[in-house]
Amino acid sequence: MSRASLEKRPREVAAMFDEVAERYDLANDVLSFGQTRLWRRAVLRAVDPRPGQRVLDLAAGTGTSSQPFLLAGAQVVPCDFSLGMLRVGKRRQPLLQFTAGDATRLPFADGVFDAVTISFGLRNVHDPDQALREMLRVTKPGGRLVVCEFSQPVWPPFRTVYSEYLMRALPAIARKVSSNSEAYVYLAESIRAWPDQAELARRIQQAGWHRVAWRNLTGGIVALHRGFRRDDH
Ligand SMILES: C[S@@+](CC[C@H](N)C(=O)[O-])C[C@H]1O[C@@H](n2cnc3c(N)ncnc32)[C@H](O)[C@@H]1O
Repeated sequence: MSRASLEKRPREVAAMFDEVAERYDLANDVLSFGQTRLWRRAVLRAVDPRPGQRVLDLAAGTGTSSQPFLLAGAQVVPCDFSLGMLRVGKRRQPLLQFTAGDATRLPFADGVFDAVTISFGLRNVHDPDQALREMLRVTKPGGRLVVCEFSQPVWPPFRTVYSEYLMRALPAIARKVSSNSEAYVYLAESIRAWPDQAELARRIQQAGWHRVAWRNLTGGIVALHRGFRRDDH
């Protein structure tokens, strides 16, 4: 059983997701008390794809985060570097165009997507600033970015309870539903080490995105950040 360290070495991260791939979606639903469905609906509303638009869903894993875009009539490209996650995704959702690729060196030409989104992925990327610059490069002028990621609960008493739940209960519950409970120790640690809403907004802006803003979901357990590529015309 493998668990990536907070250095997030790409090979360790990919190997960890390869191992959890089969039970990843089930574990997500159980551990989030079904909240992932609400979060995915909020991502879809924020991206707001028109039929025919090209959407890149980066760090797409098994494609569960990509499916709402397909159903909305967009041409969605799920991209991930864990072949294990891609394999499970392709078996379950053969209609999705799964693509292998590293977020820091995307296998796409400049300016080809109307929107780029990443759900619960950016925190796992070894160089998230480089990934944000790559996402900007492949987005059309005027196109948009939506980042969905765990964040900081905004109400301080809840923040304390939440980190207790995370650090103590999560790996124990995960042992029952996941094939690799160690991965959930990494999950808890990586959430605690991740920048809060304002700091992530600053880093998105620093990568070159414009009109950056965020909104909290479930009291700030998750935040949606959005940005736009400046329209050159
Ligand atoms: C928690 S899963 C999220 C999957 C999906 N987006 C979802 O919402 O269910 C994180 C994914 O990020 C991928 N990942 C991490 N670092 C990556 C990188 N540098 N390039 C591409 N994918 C990466 C992992 O392989 C994993 O599938």
